[in-house]
Parts: sequence; structure tokens; C-alpha cells
Amino acid sequence: MRATATVGQRLADLHGSLSPAEQANLKLILGLSAGHLVPERDPRSQRGRTAVSEALELLCPYEVADPRGAQYRGRPDLLTDALLDTLIAEARDVGETAVPFDEHYLGCGGPVADRLATSAELTALVRSVVPGAEPTGIASYLFYRDAGQGIIPHIDTDIFSLNVLLMLDHRTPGDPATSSALYMHYPDGSEERFQLTPGEVVIFLAGTQAHSRTPIVEGERVTILTFGFMPQGAPIGNYRR
Ligand SMILES: [Fe+2]
Repeated sequence: MRATATVGQRLADLHGSLSPAEQANLKLILGLSAGHLVPERDPRSQRGRTAVSEALELLCPYEVADPRGAQYRGRPDLLTDALLDTLIAEARDVGETAVPFDEHYLGCGGPVADRLATSAELTALVRSVVPGAEPTGIASYLFYRDAGQGIIPHIDTDIFSLNVLLMLDHRTPGDPATSSALYMHYPDGSEERFQLTPGEVVIFLAGTQAHSRTPIVEGERVTILTFGFMPQGAPIGNYRR
């Protein structure tokens, strides 16, 4: 371990010296810390925020120029109007049996989402921005239905270390500019708002980039489909539910 290394570098070095089970625990602790520290604006949290953010970025398992923020945002060609309509219809079916999970309702994938999760088209899109990523095959529909539902800042588990997030539906009773949105939180305490429209896709490194969804209000509804990707050659056992 380097004596002059920053706390973030020392945490990353420590990670390298641990067993896989210990690494998973350290990652969990760093993730929980990031959830609390990264969005805080308290200047007294600055050192901890920087250390945790730096360690997570050093542990990012993907080779990208900048692991922060969105690696891609847009409406990809593969998402035709017909496919989007089919996914929205599948979400409606899955939504009827979705179960409460943390601060949203969770539905597993459906036949169309599951096919798309491992499709050559989606994999090519992801690899065009994050080389070496491969699908975990996990697709999940998420539903925000009850006022107050959202997700506080966090990082995702390994299954979604790379997250492809597709906005399917967002009904808002008020001003869209102030409605619920995806946020990404950065080491300097700043944040970025992603107000997504149906059909829009965001690809980001959710295992290391802190993110959240601000709470919905009465009458607001958000339906999202997410796909998990992992680094090529990673032990598949770590990337299954
Ligand atoms: Fe997440």
C-alpha cells in the first residue's frame, strides 16, 4: 500500500488484496457510504465524499474515458415505434402483478423484454459506448405509482453494474420541469437532472455512479424498463439474482 496515496486509492488497493467475498462486502460498504455522502452538500462531508467517489471510480470494471454521468442518452434506432409500443403493452401486463420493492413496484421481465436483454442490437449499442460489456440477461420493469415513491441516492448491485434504462411512460399532473426525474450525483457535490421522455434510453455505470429518482407526487406515474450488463468474462455467478 502506498504511503502517499489518497484515501480513495488506499481503499482501492485494499479491495485488490481481499477475497471475492470480502471485496463484495467492501463494495457494499462503499455503496452505502456513497448513498449518504455523495448527495450531501455539507462541507464537512467533502473528504469522505471524495474518498468514496474516487475509490468507486478506481474500482469501475469498465474501460471508458470517463466513468461519470451518462455514457449514452437518446432514442436508439433499434427502438422502433412498434417495439416501444410492444414493450409498453408488456409493461401494462407485468404491472398487474408487480410487487412492492423498496420505494417502487418491481416486475420481472416479460418475453419481449427478455429477448431484447440479450439481443445483438442492444449489445452492439452498449458496446459502442462501453467496450467489453456483455448482457446479464436480466430485464426488470419498475413502476413508481404511489405518491412519495422514488429512490434515494445509491449505486446498483453487480447485476446492473452497467444499467440500460429505458423510459416507457411518465404521466405527470404538474410541470414536467419540476416532476420526478433521474439524478446523477457527482464527487464535488453537484448533481445532474435527467428528465426523460418515453422512448429515451440512458446507459450509465450504475455500479459506481451514484444516482437517484426524486419522489413522484399524487397522480404522477413513472414506468421504466432496465437491462443489466456486466464486464465481459466476469464470473456469471456474481451477476445473477
Ligand atoms: Fe439504481
